[in-house]
Amino acid sequence: MSNHHDLLIRGGTVVDGTKAPRFDADLAIDNGRIAAIGDLAGATAKRVIDARGRIVAPGFIDSHTHDDQALLSQPALPFKVSQGVTTVVAGNCGISAAPLRADMELPMPLALIDAPKHARHATFGSYLDALRAQPASVNVAAMVGHSTLRALVMADLDRPANDAEIAAMRAHVDEAMRSGAIGLSTGTFYPPAAHATTEEIIEVGRPLSARKALYVTHMRDEADRVIEALEETFRIGRALDVPVVVSHHKVQNAPNHGRSGETLALIQRQMQQQCIGLDCYPYTAGSTMIRTDRGMLDARILIASSEPHPEMAGRDLKDIAAQWGVSGTEAAQRLQPGSAIYFTMDETDVRRILAFEQTMIGSDGIPLGDKPHPRLWGTFPRVLGHYCRELALFPLETAVWKMTGLTARTFGLHQRGALQVGHHADVVIFDAATVRDTADYAQPMRPAQGIESVIVNGALTWHDGAHTGARAGQVITRGEARRA
Ligand code: ZN
Ligand code: CU
Repeated sequence: MSNHHDLLIRGGTVVDGTKAPRFDADLAIDNGRIAAIGDLAGATAKRVIDARGRIVAPGFIDSHTHDDQALLSQPALPFKVSQGVTTVVAGNCGISAAPLRADMELPMPLALIDAPKHARHATFGSYLDALRAQPASVNVAAMVGHSTLRALVMADLDRPANDAEIAAMRAHVDEAMRSGAIGLSTGTFYPPAAHATTEEIIEVGRPLSARKALYVTHMRDEADRVIEALEETFRIGRALDVPVVVSHHKVQNAPNHGRSGETLALIQRQMQQQCIGLDCYPYTAGSTMIRTDRGMLDARILIASSEPHPEMAGRDLKDIAAQWGVSGTEAAQRLQPGSAIYFTMDETDVRRILAFEQTMIGSDGIPLGDKPHPRLWGTFPRVLGHYCRELALFPLETAVWKMTGLTARTFGLHQRGALQVGHHADVVIFDAATVRDTADYAQPMRPAQGIESVIVNGALTWHDGAHTGARAGQVITRGEARRA
């Protein structure tokens, strides 16, 4: 082994992503891989980073994103890289960038992450090829979305799919799997898939079984009927014999506050029968398309974007309604289509779910407009600063594991998520004493503090508070993810 490396990170404290206790070591990188970890006193390198007093960890893996189009249209992804994120899981909540036809009109919420029509991809394979041809600054593992497939093959979304439509969707899932998708996501909470039956999802998902690809879901209900929704998710996983992931687990609306005790106990119990994962974002507000259903208009609502009224972004629905002299429902209808921030959760539930051993960290950020939910820029530093350091919800080793090793294992991301010799060199260097989110609801696009350097496949991508311009992200496919 040569002693002259591409990159050498000197004197840091390694938190390796496995939950093992931290240790002091140097880390060397060659050809995009981790070449050595230990006392490398005699080594030299083309570039040396002094990491004394800093934590050296695997680059964070964002387990839940809607970056499908941003990877192509804003490939520097500063809102990810500035947080220490080096890999994103895309295609969540039933929504994927492909397959789509150029002539389709997309319903909400699919339209939230749509591309210009000429830039749409008719197959999942062609979407992944585009990502390879024009790499982004982070790695991506992508899923195909059931709502996207419904919009593609069904003329009318307000009913269950018939046998021919199920067969057509299944063929698209098969194509996506062959091309390297890591799973199928659903969003039965949303209108385009609300009428899909459990059986429809199982039959569409058949191609997952042979590959043990993931079934990932924004469940039908995260409020009064959350237990039934969990049972449905588990049933689909058992029928297909594949791992399931419960996306952005939460219990919404005041009458359900406190019920995370019940949901986590059920998840814990069922984990003994089948493979289950879950993720969570560290905020008591969610963000989604502007809705007018009962229950969702009770709590505080902040408008994030509105097509007919872009000037209302960043304002409370209540104030807009007062200004217009109309009801909240009427104001919400006038603001559609658009997205909003809903303060529907309780802090006690958020903490309990975050602290649950098997919960991964995912942002669920929507890279749209200039008043996004602050989770887009703040999720990972908020967990490290607020929940880990300030509230001591868990040790730093556990926080890092929830963002790296656990996530890589859950999604089958081979040779990522842990600092080990031979692994892909995705690395973040941060200051555990100062790392914190600065994005809030008023100023949601402020980058985190304390994230000092971010390395993606060996390429220095964020350094000294600035993006280097590197775009070394790779497409992680199911084939590669399968262990030898
Ligand atoms: Zn969702
Ligand atoms: Cu989502």
